[in-house]
Order: sequence, then structure tokens, then C-alpha cells
Amino acid sequence: MGAWVGVGSRDERAEDAGMCHFIEHMVFKGTTKRRMHHIAQRMENVGGYLNAFTSKEFTCFYSRCLDEHLPRAVDTILDLILNPVFPEKELEREKDVVIEEMKMYEDTPDEYVFDLFDKALYGDDVMGSPVIGTESSVRSFTRQRLIDFLSGHYVADRIVIAIAGNVDHKRAVRLVQKMMDSVPERTTSGSRSTPTEYLPARVEERKPMQQAHIVLGTRGMSEVSFIPFSHPLSLDEQGMVERAESFYSLMDGRRTVREYSDADVPREVIEACIKTAGTAPSGAHKQPWHFAAVSDPDIKKAIREAAEEEERAFYGGRAGDDWLEALRPFGTNEHKPFLETAPWLIAIFARNYDLDDEGARSKNYYVQESVGIASGMLIASLHQAGLSTLTHTPSPMGFLNKVLDRPSHERAIILLVVGHAAADAQVPEIDRKPLEQIASFR
Ligand SMILES: Cc1cc2nc3c(=O)[nH]c(=O)nc-3n(C[C@H](O)[C@H](O)[C@H](O)COP(=O)(O)O)c2cc1C
Repeated sequence: MGAWVGVGSRDERAEDAGMCHFIEHMVFKGTTKRRMHHIAQRMENVGGYLNAFTSKEFTCFYSRCLDEHLPRAVDTILDLILNPVFPEKELEREKDVVIEEMKMYEDTPDEYVFDLFDKALYGDDVMGSPVIGTESSVRSFTRQRLIDFLSGHYVADRIVIAIAGNVDHKRAVRLVQKMMDSVPERTTSGSRSTPTEYLPARVEERKPMQQAHIVLGTRGMSEVSFIPFSHPLSLDEQGMVERAESFYSLMDGRRTVREYSDADVPREVIEACIKTAGTAPSGAHKQPWHFAAVSDPDIKKAIREAAEEEERAFYGGRAGDDWLEALRPFGTNEHKPFLETAPWLIAIFARNYDLDDEGARSKNYYVQESVGIASGMLIASLHQAGLSTLTHTPSPMGFLNKVLDRPSHERAIILLVVGHAAADAQVPEIDRKPLEQIASFR
């Protein structure tokens, strides 16, 4: 069984360097229940083993014993971490032991090489300092500082009790609960900082010895880090209503336009709107989209020709009678002049998976939904920039991969036509469903 406490040397302030490790030693010097030699013998007497170690991120107290001695192990370990007394007399003696340990490290190259590595990698950040601390920090420790540190960090939400072997789960939980009930839940100490710098470095230290010890390392996968969030707007109720109504009113004036002026639209506008689309939420944040923006007349012509070929087949029968009937009110047909007149076309591609440089696949999630949301944000953003759009979906759209030179794992889902509506543009007279038909409130 092990008690894993989520506190390690990276949680220490400079003056406390080595505190976690020192506490790990000192808890064995006596608790409110047991004296030092009792602790030392308690597991050994039944053929068990009791030990502890400290790292940069956690401190672990553990025991191995026969299943029948589990209650003894739980009681011994939890007593150690919950009720240590830190006897004054042992404090000074233990400082000497730890300082000896520091010196020993320097003569143990297979350990020392890791200290050098961390120092090279993290520099002056707390992650770059050895777990054991420094001679001066350890010398400065007082009993009260140990107690304060312990009560700030040895709290229930930082302790994991892990038990493996022939144990009954419920019984194990009962054993632990009995002792943990009085432990406060929340830590009073600050949160961990992340080393900001990653310093590629090569460090070499020579000593007169037979072996060479080498550590080679690079940055790996990191834990997710969180940052504070605050909304860019801070609105009272009235402010919210006004903005929501005003945005609705703007969007209510949006229409799908099929007749365009050939007036130019600056590329910056298109870039900003695509950036907006790129802020869309996506399944597992895979951002499974690509926006191919086209203003080159030759490419637009090629797209028009290929699209009209598909559309001829579509309107010529491929769509089926029901679909063609549904499209009748829009007056659409196989002719798509807007694909050349409008200043911009944006082909929106979805990726079911991504490929890394070596060709390995990684799956994307909720691709259709994610790209749909991003496309909606793109349309809204283009509209509020004063532009009109047509959500064009010639079917099938495979020709877009060829014309736009996109890889085969990308699938075009929309060809968005973007520009200013022609001065004499008309749109079909259609209704939008009222709120009662599209929403319900409970
Ligand atoms: C997924 C999707 C595909 C569409 N495909 C086409 C199309 O291929 N050709 C077309 O003229 N309009 C197409 N439209 C536009 C719709 O017909 C249009 O949005 C609808 O008539 C509502 O009109 P409004 O946008 O003016 O409110 C499509 C719209 C969506 C959302």
C-alpha cells in the first residue's frame, strides 16, 4: 500500500528548499501514537517493509506486507503522515544525516547526473534544483516551519491511498476512511508554477573515474495547463439584451445571395473572417478544418467549369424529383456564373483524421459538427463585415481537391461564395420559422 501526497520540491519556496524530503525523513521520528523505534519495527515485526521517497512532484510512503497485515500498514502509514510530532532533539540530528546524504549524491554519479540535467534544463526555476535542498536551507528548518508546511500541504485532496493485492475494496476504504475523516480537504498553499524556459544545453562535468554517465532528454507531453479566463465583455442585464437583440437584427438581414457584383474585397477582410471561423469550438479541440480561399480568376474559372459539370448531372436527374421539387422556389439551375463573378470563393474542407510528417494518422472527433459550427461562424462574420455569401454545395465536390491541390484525407463540404450582392440582386421571398417553432423553454 502507498500513501501518495501531491507535494514535492517544486512546491517549495527557495528558503524551504528540501523541506518535503526533510519532512519525509522526520515523520519516522515519532508520532502522537508511536515512538521512533516502534515505527521502525512495526512492519518489520510481521515480515513487512516500510519506506518512503520524495520527488519533485510528490512524496510517497509505502509498505509491502502480507494481506492479513493490511490494517497494520494502513494504520502505520496514515499515522506517519497525519500525526508526526517532529521531536526537537531528532531535528538537529536529522539535519546532519540529510547533509551527509547531499555529499553522498555528489559521489554517486548515476544520481548526480540527473541533478545536472535538471539544472541545465530548467535553470533557476525550482524544477532545476535538487529535491534534497541546500545545506543552508536545511540548516534553517525549525520544528514550527515543518508543522506549517505539513498542515498546508498534507491535505485530503492531495493524498491518494493506493492498495494493490488480495484486498477487499470496501474494507480497504473503511480502514482508510476511519483515519482520514479528520484531515482538512483544501490546501492553503499556492498553486504550482510552470517553468517558462526550455533551455537546450549541453553540460559536462569531469571526475577521475572509470565510467561515463549520460542523460539525454527532450521536452515530452505536458500536463494540460490552465489559465485564468475573463470574458472580453462585461455587461449588465440591459447591456446583454441590447447586444443580443442588435446582433439578431443584423443577422436577420442576412440572405443567401446568388447574384454578385465583381467589386473587390480586401484579402485582410477574408483573413480576419477565416480567423474568426478558426476560433470555433471543435471535438477534442482537433480543429478539423481547412479554408481554401480563392481570388485567382483562372482557378475560379476551373472551379466553375467543374462545378457546372456536376450540377448538369444533378439537375439532369441525379437529384431525383423530390429534391428538385424542394429547390423549385429558389429558381436555381446548373448555371453558376457567381463562381466567377464573386471576388472570393472559400472552399471549406473537413478532415476526418490528421496526418503527421511521417504519415501517421490521428483521428478527429465530431468532424461534421465542428466544421459546421466553424462554417456558421464564418458566414456570420462575413455578413457582419458587410459581405454576402452563398453556401454552395455542388454534389459531389471531389473536384475541389484536384483544383485546389488539397490532400485526399480532406473532404470539401461547402464552397462558400463571398462578395458584395449585385445592385439588382434578388432573393426568394421565404419565411423563417418563429421562435416558438424552433425553441422550447422549460
Ligand atoms: C448545407 C447547405 C447547402 C446549401 N447548398 C446550396 C446550393 O448548393 N445552392 C444554392 O443555391 N443554395 C444552397 N444553400 C442555400 C440555402 O438554399 C439557403 O440558405 C436557404 O435558401 C435559406 O435562405 P437564406 O440563407 O437567404 O435565409 C445551401 C445551404 C446550406 C445550409
